[in-house]
Amino acid sequence: MIIAIDGPAAAGKGTLARRISAHYGLPYLDTGALYRAVGLAMRLAGNDLTDEETAARVARDLDLALLEHPDLRSAQAGEAASRVAAMAGVRAALLDVQRDFARQPGGAVLDGRDIGTVVCPQADIKLFVTASPQERARRRWLELRERGEEAGFDDILAQVMARDARDKARAEAPLRPAQDAHLLDTSKLDIEAAFREARRIIGAHHQAGSGRRG
Ligand code: DC
Repeated sequence: MIIAIDGPAAAGKGTLARRISAHYGLPYLDTGALYRAVGLAMRLAGNDLTDEETAARVARDLDLALLEHPDLRSAQAGEAASRVAAMAGVRAALLDVQRDFARQPGGAVLDGRDIGTVVCPQADIKLFVTASPQERARRRWLELRERGEEAGFDDILAQVMARDARDKARAEAPLRPAQDAHLLDTSKLDIEAAFREARRIIGAHHQAGSGRRG
């Protein structure tokens, strides 16, 4: 079973994906981390973030140790990720890694922006997880504060909205729900409630599948 989880930044995808992965015993890939690693590598090397050729090369030769880098989750790495993620060469370089992961026997859970639309259009279940920009900014603000990064709420909200705009407007694999995705708005749901709702959707899909098979 392949479960694709897409949605904007800080909507609760990652937490939900980890819970689903543990519950169903499926391996999990946080695909945003791959784009973050490319963005971070570009920053660490002092490269120009608009240099597409270099970014694509960095993505092709991605140093997987960067996935453990303490700054991977920083606001700067997220911003850099959103820039390099708009580049066709970078997306192409990361596509096979993601598809290979999804093809594991038994399936997998992947979260990102284009899993249900581009990486795994054949996924068994597609969830599109959203929350209001204010709620997502609040969650990001709390997360950064826990990491010891002080940032003003208004700045975070502006960043969240700028990243949404960039992720949605880009020509390459823009952020949008797949036609057959289930929408899950977590604005008023805590993680337990969101997880319950996700299990209900996945369970209903299973039942419908067994019904079809007779
Ligand atoms: O989910 P995240 O904040 O870690 O993602 C960082 C950036 O990577 C985000 O701005 C969009 C990009 N991204 C993408 O374009 N496609 C994906 N499948 C995952 C992330």
